[in-house]
Amino acid sequence: MSHGFDTLAIHAGQDPEARTGAVIPPIYQTSTYAQDAVGAPRLGYEYSRSGNPTRDALQECLAALEGGPVGLAFASGLAAEDTLLRTVCKPGDHVVIPDDAYGGTYRLFARVAERWGLDFTPAKVSDPDAVRAAIRPGSTKIVWVETPTNPLLGIADIAALAGVAHDAGALLVVDNTFASPYLQQPIAHGADVVVHSTTKYIGGHSDVVGGALVAADAGLGEELRYHQNAMGAINGPFDAWLTLRGIKTLGVRMDRHCDNAERIAAYLDGHAKVGQVIYPGLPAHPGHEVAAKQMRRFGGMISFRAAGGEEHAVEICNRTELFILAESLGGVESLIEHPGRMTHASAAGSPLEVPGDLVRLSVGIETVDDLLADLEQALG
Ligand SMILES: Cc1ncc(COP(=O)(O)O)c(C=O)c1O
Repeated sequence: MSHGFDTLAIHAGQDPEARTGAVIPPIYQTSTYAQDAVGAPRLGYEYSRSGNPTRDALQECLAALEGGPVGLAFASGLAAEDTLLRTVCKPGDHVVIPDDAYGGTYRLFARVAERWGLDFTPAKVSDPDAVRAAIRPGSTKIVWVETPTNPLLGIADIAALAGVAHDAGALLVVDNTFASPYLQQPIAHGADVVVHSTTKYIGGHSDVVGGALVAADAGLGEELRYHQNAMGAINGPFDAWLTLRGIKTLGVRMDRHCDNAERIAAYLDGHAKVGQVIYPGLPAHPGHEVAAKQMRRFGGMISFRAAGGEEHAVEICNRTELFILAESLGGVESLIEHPGRMTHASAAGSPLEVPGDLVRLSVGIETVDDLLADLEQALG
């Protein structure tokens, strides 16, 4: 029987525990497991890097939410990305990356993977022709996209890019961190691997760092599982438990994030102290129609340009009271940041450098009138 998203979020991988009936999966805070005889580990558990029941519960739930056969949980989003790259690519290969992406993802390609022999080309992921032109036939192994992108909220047409990648014999990887599986399920649109920083909406409470991969193909999923163990960047049992607790309310949280973000985007749009408002839910956003096609709603992230330039943008970030000045996103509390000097500082001087007058909001689930009042006083 197939179940709805919220049912899966609460139950997938989370049957009551067999021995005691505990309704919530226990935290198996153990590194190793007693074996019944040499070579006969109980239920296949032998060492917690290779397998842990709390992590298994999270992995099964992640796979169910993204609609893939294999889900894997990592120590962080970047650990998941690194494991994926080193599973699929080898020195001499090439990857197409977004020309707008999380700064740490760019740093992984530009400062780590490139030194190790992996070449990359940034391309505008909202333009399938630009992505096609960036592909090097024979050597491109991955077309990597974020949608919406961080921080400029560009929208990639997942189905169109799946066609472009597959024509070239490459995989389409979608970083679904900004949307969450509640708003968008890339595998249903043709993606081969979904990446998450579970630190963000999936965990949802700014209390745990983690990452995930969900593969559309079971064979690739098993290769990734092999590398997860061989490379070792696993999610710990307590972190997996916290993430699972967050997942149970993902759907209701996302709806509230979207409600609040829609109100705030409408308020900022046309405000005298604000230049361009970037939110895929606004009809003027160039990716609005594609977003409406592949997303349930438009998410909780808003970026905008301060009318008074970079110093004004910095002042706004310094002046908010409810919006906490902090990196990260996707928690229940609202955050504000200056991408150019904070999350995306590592992209300075690169094709991924972000405008200095840009402010990014992660709209939380507080009372929206309080958030609007905070922005009104901070805009000056
Ligand atoms: C879109 C996106 N992908 C990946 C990451 C990296 O995840 P983590 O910080 O959990 O390593 C982030 C972090 O901000 C992100 O925003």
